[in-house]
Amino acid sequence: MILMEHIIREGHPSLRIKAEEVKFPLTEEDKKLATDMLEYLINSQNPETAEKYGLRPGIGLAANQVNSLKRMFALHLENEKGELLSFVAINPKIASHSVEKTYLTTGEGCLSVDRTVPGYVPRYARITVKFFNVDGQEQKMRLNGLPAIAFQHELDHLNGVMFYDHINEENPFEPVPDAIPFGEK
Ligand code: NI
Repeated sequence: MILMEHIIREGHPSLRIKAEEVKFPLTEEDKKLATDMLEYLINSQNPETAEKYGLRPGIGLAANQVNSLKRMFALHLENEKGELLSFVAINPKIASHSVEKTYLTTGEGCLSVDRTVPGYVPRYARITVKFFNVDGQEQKMRLNGLPAIAFQHELDHLNGVMFYDHINEENPFEPVPDAIPFGEK
């Protein structure tokens, strides 16, 4: 199982490398990686297993973060309607997006970043995404709110981009044009 010690932290070169497309059918190794990444998120959100294994809670985890340069990530979170979104996205893409932006009012965090980086991270408010599941079936999904933000954060990882790359260095809390803030005011 994936533990905190297996998650690489900022400064590690693999977080800055563009991951490679995954070929289908998946190898056993790819399948195990997909299962393990999702399992980490589930365990990390369960107070008992998080405590037992010392897991920092996360809603998303990209393969780069466990030092595997494959285009896949796991997400495990609820949308605004309280529906659980729990999946592994392989070769994910944003097919289209809103003009409107959003950002987390609390800023973003990352399992590979052991510090708080204050500032707004502009994201598209709504995205239509495409990806393949572990069985090689293409999925299409419309996301908004936190799932849209998390999807963009994880997709960035596959391209070697960290969330703080998007923060305005001179003025981290500069109002984001055309954005509706997400989260506590
Ligand atoms: Ni991250």
